[in-house]
Amino acid sequence: MEDAYIVNGGNVLKGEVVLSGAKNLALKTVIASLLFESKVTLTNVPKINDVHELLHLIKKLGATVEQTENTVTIDPSTLSSCKPDLLHASKLRASFLLFAPLLHKFRECRIPNPGGCRIGMRPIDRIISGMEALGVTTEYQSKDGYYDARLAQSPKGSYKFSKPTHTGTELLIMLGALGENEIRIENSALEPEIDELILFLNKAGAKITKVGATITIQGVKSLNQTKPFRIFSDRNEAVTFATLAVATKGSVEIHNLIPDQLHTFNEFMTKAGVKVLIRSNSIIYEYVGTVKPVSITTEPHPGFMTDWQPNWAVLMTQSTGVATVHETVFENRFSYVDELLKLGAQMEYVEESDIDNNTNYHFNTKGSKAMKQKIRITGGAPLHSAAIKIADLRAGATLLIAALIADGESVVTNANILERGYENIVEKISSLGGKLKRV
Ligand code: EPU
Repeated sequence: MEDAYIVNGGNVLKGEVVLSGAKNLALKTVIASLLFESKVTLTNVPKINDVHELLHLIKKLGATVEQTENTVTIDPSTLSSCKPDLLHASKLRASFLLFAPLLHKFRECRIPNPGGCRIGMRPIDRIISGMEALGVTTEYQSKDGYYDARLAQSPKGSYKFSKPTHTGTELLIMLGALGENEIRIENSALEPEIDELILFLNKAGAKITKVGATITIQGVKSLNQTKPFRIFSDRNEAVTFATLAVATKGSVEIHNLIPDQLHTFNEFMTKAGVKVLIRSNSIIYEYVGTVKPVSITTEPHPGFMTDWQPNWAVLMTQSTGVATVHETVFENRFSYVDELLKLGAQMEYVEESDIDNNTNYHFNTKGSKAMKQKIRITGGAPLHSAAIKIADLRAGATLLIAALIADGESVVTNANILERGYENIVEKISSLGGKLKRV
């Protein structure tokens, strides 16, 4: 298999799309299911590479997994190993969330350092400090890159994140959910997946409350599911399809979404002159003759999300002027820039001399490779076909959109990276009139 998309671009895309379940909720609920006493059923689980890898990983740890289409049932009672193997754990950054269920089940575990990935170094320093504050002892073994962790008694205490972290918050929630004590997490991240994880656990007997950025957890003895839990739809997928339709001068009605989760994105689309029509369970995005240049700076939720910025950048190539994209959450999220230049886009890096790296960025700036964090895009240059290569998930969606805008045949390689997070992407784009095939 060549692992590529062959795209014939230049068509206006129009129609309707039904979103799949959210990757970043599915992964967490699968891992949180291992905290339960008995079987857990999840529905609307997207069939994507990351979920596939995670299910494989937990099966290797002994969990029993049954999957029928988008429904997954996990029996955590058969878990038998507390050491995820490096090969499978390293394919999935979220694998470090396994600390929580494995510590509760075995009181000790060995988890590989997830390390950097294509979008940045992604250290877990704040997350390790948070676990230690709640009573976990950890020791990093540099010889094999594993953390040895132990939990001698019920988690207790409190932790305030110096800067919020999305999966870090989720890990501490999972850790505190079981036990005898009250835990407090301050300056937590605010992403909707966190609220939904709390709902998932509370429905099974957990006692977790979140007020603003403060989470209070009263540990409980056990978690038991009473009915299947449905994974909510993927807001990042919604953004990709909205951008795709508008950037090809078309329109799309996106079904199955939660409009509130897209509030900020919709504000920016409206500023860009896109018609945004919000219905109870769907949103219509329509190109109405122009895309205005609008600059963005990424921020954790409820700001303009980092996962949306690569899509925004390609939309701005179709605008009538100059816009900037400033990334503050991950230090290496511009892998698409060189590829879009190959298609004829006009964009360049901008030096920012007046920024204090330590306060303006969510990644650790000390010791990491100096990366430029802002690009300037001049809209209006026609995109032409080329061979381009995906380096990370959201950049992948961006390159596919760009190839669908560009006249002629393009080849987009490393399709498997995009398929880590997008279900049935070829079928969905084809249903809007896009011409592409997977080879
Ligand atoms: N960070 C640290 N130290 C830590 C934890 C985080 O320096 O201990 C840094 C990270 O390196 C990053 C920043 O803080 O620069 C924010 O990281 P955060 O922990 O909030 O992000 P994450 O939990 O690793 C999740 C999603 C991302 C999404 C972000 C923001 C999952 C599996 N991943 O990442 O999704 O962009 O939150 O909402 O939920 C994607 O889906 O493609 C993706 C990257």
